Amino acid sequence: MNLILMGLPGAGKGTQAENIVEKYGIPHISTGDMFRAAIKEESELGKKAKSYMDAGELVPDEVTVGIVRERLGKDDCEHGFLLDGFPRTVPQAEALENILSDMNKSLDYVLNIDVDRENLERRLTGRRVSPTSGKTYHIEFNPPKEEGICDVDGSELIQRDDDKPETVKKRLDVNIEQQQPLIDFYEEKGYLRNIDGDQDIDEVFQDIEELLKGLHA
Ligand code: AP5
Ligand code: MG
Repeated sequence: MNLILMGLPGAGKGTQAENIVEKYGIPHISTGDMFRAAIKEESELGKKAKSYMDAGELVPDEVTVGIVRERLGKDDCEHGFLLDGFPRTVPQAEALENILSDMNKSLDYVLNIDVDRENLERRLTGRRVSPTSGKTYHIEFNPPKEEGICDVDGSELIQRDDDKPETVKKRLDVNIEQQQPLIDFYEEKGYLRNIDGDQDIDEVFQDIEELLKGLHA
């Protein structure tokens, strides 16, 4: 099962990825998560990515494509993968075509989670994450059992640096600009499947499950 999860910031890619990974057991490859881990480690990659992320800009394609190529080459991707937030530009999508063809792999679906912009800002500014388990919550729409505490490991929830209101606006503008050409690219290739993301988290997942029924894990 070779899948891409597409959608604007706050569309619910990470949230649905948690569900997909739990049900289908494929590895979750989020370029955003990889960059955040690199920033935490203060690695060279982290240093390169940080200024772009803090500004709400995209990390340059050559940096991003390199880490995805390396990650997709790992053994756990042999029977499938779930890309989250990659590709985000047409050059990245073209690079991915080459990577997959070098590996004799092909995509099954590109799931595009579609959400109205007005809902996205609320989702992003109310998001809280666990720095240790990585689980995502929302203060209103998906709260933890105990306020501010992760259900999985009891850690104190934090707000992502790029979820501050000024950065959120910039991220949305940057991603909206890139989105349509990417949708057209995958529509033309026949991989694109639109998912209505303006529903409850469970309902969105039900639609995804319905779509994936025909695919083997
Ligand atoms: P990344 O980490 O991928 O951020 P993003 O694309 O901005 O997406 P988010 O993670 O913010 O949103 P999401 O769709 O995962 O939503 P979530 O499930 O958390 O990338 C960060 C940065 O890294 C980029 O800005 C860029 O700089 C760089 N980068 C990454 N990839 C790159 C690439 N390919 N090229 C270049 N640069 C790259 O949900 C959001 C909130 O809503 C949560 O609180 C959640 O609980 C809630 N929620 C989810 N679903 C629902 C629902 N159905 N109803 C109500 N609330 C919901
Ligand atoms: Mg995410």
